Amino acid sequence: MSKIKFDLEIKFGTQYGKKEEDAILRVIRNNAPTSGEECIKFEKNYAAYSNVKHARVVSNGSSALFLAMIGIGIKPGDRVLTTPVTWIATAAAPVTLGAEVDFVDIDLETYNIDVNQIESHISPNTKAVIPVHLYGQPCEMDEIMQISQKHGLSVVEDAAHAIGAEYKGRKVGGFGAVGCFSFHEQKNISTLGEGGMVLTNDDAIHERVSLYRSHCTRVHGVSTKYCKLDETQFPIGKKFWWQDFDDCGYNFRMTDIQAAVGSEQLLKVDMLNQKRIDNAAYLTHGLKEVPGLKLPTVRPYNKHVFHLYPVMIDPKEFGMNKEDFIYNLLHQYGIKVGFHYIPLHYSTAFKNRGFKKGQFPNAEKLGEQLVTLPINPRQTEEALEYLITSIKALRS
Ligand SMILES: Cc1ncc(COP(=O)(O)O)c(C=O)c1O
Repeated sequence: MSKIKFDLEIKFGTQYGKKEEDAILRVIRNNAPTSGEECIKFEKNYAAYSNVKHARVVSNGSSALFLAMIGIGIKPGDRVLTTPVTWIATAAAPVTLGAEVDFVDIDLETYNIDVNQIESHISPNTKAVIPVHLYGQPCEMDEIMQISQKHGLSVVEDAAHAIGAEYKGRKVGGFGAVGCFSFHEQKNISTLGEGGMVLTNDDAIHERVSLYRSHCTRVHGVSTKYCKLDETQFPIGKKFWWQDFDDCGYNFRMTDIQAAVGSEQLLKVDMLNQKRIDNAAYLTHGLKEVPGLKLPTVRPYNKHVFHLYPVMIDPKEFGMNKEDFIYNLLHQYGIKVGFHYIPLHYSTAFKNRGFKKGQFPNAEKLGEQLVTLPINPRQTEEALEYLITSIKALRS
């Protein structure tokens, strides 16, 4: 029983092993630098895995989104569209740069942004759209790219839940101008609890992201022959260098220890995702006859990597609302379920920006009825069976 509870409670995707331990030791013995060769190696590996030209590793998924907004040139007064059903980091990225967010309601089949409602939200100030590949299921990228091209919008994919997910055979993160990933401890792979990546095929965006990630520092090397020494210049060998700052950026760097672990995790990601997909299939098979549960729909052209397993509970048909479901499952069976997410327009941050209940009916219905069941690559068949039978028993 206690092992089963462990399998169900620990929702973290992270599975570290000997390879990660060895990588950590190797980097410690090399003085554990920040943003050194291991970061460059992880970036190359990630770009190759994603089939995108540039990858820049960063401190977390939130900084990836913030840098993406800087990369595409978001300024005060610009408007950015996104879904109200996401973690606040998605919407906070443009807001912290002085832009305004406008939410677009979701599609109740996939829980992703409803592509049929995007155009009606576009105004002359709209500069970008951030589709979120929620729970690991890719958004409708053909439609999003087509609408964005028509209206001159930049697309920034929030792929925090979706490393390895595919839309029509192509990995997410490479469709828009920028793709952002998170390696937080609960994500499908992790770099020791925090981490992120910014992908782009655009050289200029890559340069801006790289500069603002590290204080917009440019280092210029100059031969002593041409260089007049002053207090900002330092000798390196026979050369001198000086440092300039193009603008004021921040420190959003990752450490080499994290990146070395990231390269090892990346080698496992497809295997870990496959276990999630298999576990999701097991849950869907076991729960499909239960009245009142709406199980996840996977579009036939999508590879959904099940960062989470979303279930909507119809209180009339199931005989219990979401709150009682969460409470009873925990107290009667020791199973913790999540609720991702309370729609962002309910939060003080966005109520203060003029949003009101009633504006996004699908997101609101999801907020009322959605729970996320435990899913992770460690789950045993026994643990999955326990989850299924416990949910069935709640109805009887
Ligand atoms: C959809 C989404 N976007 C962005 C983020 C931010 O990532 P991080 O926690 O690495 O900053 C998260 C984190 O949970 C997320 O779920």
